[in-house]
Amino acid sequence: MVTARSTPNSAWIKYWGNRNDILRLPMADSFSMTLDGPTVEIDIDHADTLSVQSFETDGTERVLKEKDILRFQKHLDLTKRYLNHLGAHDAVPASIAVTVRSAIPPAVGLASSSAVFSCLARAYQGLVAPIIELTDEQTSVIARLGSGSAARSIFGGFSALISGEGDDIDSAVGRQYADENHWQLHDIILVPSTEEKKVGSTEGHATAHTSPHYAARVKAITTRRQQECIDALLQRDFEKLQAIVEEDCNDMHTVMQTSNPPLNYLTEATHHITREIAELRRSEHLPVFYTMDAGPTVQLVCTEEAVERVREFAHSQKGCQIFEAKVGKGAHLI
Ligand code: DP6
Repeated sequence: MVTARSTPNSAWIKYWGNRNDILRLPMADSFSMTLDGPTVEIDIDHADTLSVQSFETDGTERVLKEKDILRFQKHLDLTKRYLNHLGAHDAVPASIAVTVRSAIPPAVGLASSSAVFSCLARAYQGLVAPIIELTDEQTSVIARLGSGSAARSIFGGFSALISGEGDDIDSAVGRQYADENHWQLHDIILVPSTEEKKVGSTEGHATAHTSPHYAARVKAITTRRQQECIDALLQRDFEKLQAIVEEDCNDMHTVMQTSNPPLNYLTEATHHITREIAELRRSEHLPVFYTMDAGPTVQLVCTEEAVERVREFAHSQKGCQIFEAKVGKGAHLI
């Protein structure tokens, strides 16, 4: 049996829309900071048929829906295909038994699929290690086959999913740009609602192309935004980073809202928080930026010097659950 541990990531240049939905090959690059919590742990072992069990940290079993099990089955099939593509026929498991222990509250707006599939990919890496030694990049491909954003959580610190070209199974890979010691940033997460979201990101990606703003989004990321984000990160230029991350977040939500059917993930509570934080930033010169994924949850990313003030702000918001994370070290075997 092999056990791995992983965490979600905070997306700064967002992954939204694929050129190949089945293989989760993205249209454009994305970038994120890997968080140090909440954690997911996964045990896997060889088995004759697939079994998946999921537990809360207190040991309560989480009842999985049929579509969740199907996602693991599809991921297993794609992982087998990838191992065959690598010529590692002997490493292909007949099937696997999976046990998930997750500390991520469901529907909290932190892509739990990024933690789960990066964790599972790392566990697969451990399982096949006696036969083939997979690199981190190859492990990120296995993660991506389960959830696009998971390819980035394979790495600690700050990393990208490079979209690549063509339809080969390994044409999009994760890559680290700086490790977890590069910059001590904090992520304060405000959850205004824990209502389960109606349209998950997998279905959402498939509608991205219907937005009249989508082509311009892909072009902006490809020609400048991704590189500007990486440069700002490497230079530790917070102001530049804030401008680019908020631009990309707002752009993704414009695409979502103008898709067919439209996807409105943000609520009045989200807008209230982002308006107030922008005002606080202006009046107190606070190094903090906001970003939102496929839900109303707001992540406030800030420097060490701003964290106390941002924390105080977060706790002054009524009706929000609050979580805190720092920069994490990515998926690893334990
Ligand atoms: C808005 O990686 O969750 O959070 O591959 O279908 O699991 P699947 O999609 P997922 O999409 C992430 C969407 C996002 C932006 C991001 O994390 O980059």
